[in-house]
Amino acid sequence: MTVHSEEGEEKAPARRRSRRYIPNLAEFYFKPTCDWTIDEARALYEASDRASDDLELNTVFYEDCIRGMRKIPEGSIDLVIADPPFGIDFDGKSSVYNRDERLVIEDYEEVNGSYTDFTKRWISELPRALKADGSVYIFSGWTNLEPVLRGAREAGLTALNHIVWHYPFGVFTKRRFVSSHYHVLLLVMDSRTYFFNKIEHYPEDVWPIKRKYRVGEVKNSTKLPIEVVRRCIDFSSKPGDLVLDPFMGNGTTAIAAKSSWRHFIGYEINERLKPVIDSEVSSVAPGECYTPYATRLPTIEELAEAYPNAYREYMRREKEEKR
Ligand SMILES: C[S@@+](CC[C@H](N)C(=O)[O-])C[C@H]1O[C@@H](n2cnc3c(N)ncnc32)[C@H](O)[C@@H]1O
Repeated sequence: MTVHSEEGEEKAPARRRSRRYIPNLAEFYFKPTCDWTIDEARALYEASDRASDDLELNTVFYEDCIRGMRKIPEGSIDLVIADPPFGIDFDGKSSVYNRDERLVIEDYEEVNGSYTDFTKRWISELPRALKADGSVYIFSGWTNLEPVLRGAREAGLTALNHIVWHYPFGVFTKRRFVSSHYHVLLLVMDSRTYFFNKIEHYPEDVWPIKRKYRVGEVKNSTKLPIEVVRRCIDFSSKPGDLVLDPFMGNGTTAIAAKSSWRHFIGYEINERLKPVIDSEVSSVAPGECYTPYATRLPTIEELAEAYPNAYREYMRREKEEKR
């Protein structure tokens, strides 16, 4: 594994400190905090598979997550990705969503009773299951953000970011703005020791990621784009880590984890989703989408085209270093 300290990345040698600030120059020097070759990532995945006899890895349990999470051994989860039901009167089939109802799986489980109470109960299970350096991403629409924030605070989790996932087609409205974003809260167990792999130089908290129209596919009605879930996994876990999703839906977290050399466990109360989840999970091989993080960065040529002034200065400094 390669580890680059944030300090090392930004703290320049004494000689460089007096140099003037050049916009975008730092991007030419950026390296992810941690990185793994494909072989290193595979080895971590395989080693952690054997190490977890007391917990059935890479499994979805078809039961209520609140009951299920109580059985998770203490301190065994590295990352939680949770996309709970919205807490609105939603059966996943409403015609405003322009869906072919025959392809939407029955029994979308909404919350009966108090959403605040439900939210508090499932979030309060997380701290015991998480490792000390673990993190949690919770997806929430704006209407139920308040109970989620309160539930997280009462569980002792610290909010680090309030990410906005912007998707381009919200439901058409006549007398108000079209809602076209989700809140994605990044919460951690300990704000001093949490794991965060800065794999991009300037990772902003607004993620413009398209939702796919999956015409003709059988599905649960609320599938997240895999790119959104992958982002959570890439920034907040390592190969071989264990990712928990209490509300598995179509299995997006399971697929994203498996294809990135991470393990998963999850819960889904609607057993009718089992065939969908099984077929999605078996359609990917472990690690098939993983590439070392440095290879995903823009190349020097791409940076040179985007920032010609910074490129000139970068080349000048490279020459100077070699002298
Ligand atoms: C918003 S969807 C999750 C969608 C998922 N992120 C995906 O990409 O497919 C919420 C899911 O939680 C399930 N669910 C609701 N209450 C639950 C509970 N108490 N325990 C486990 N699953 C539950 C619903 O049946 C639904 O499939």
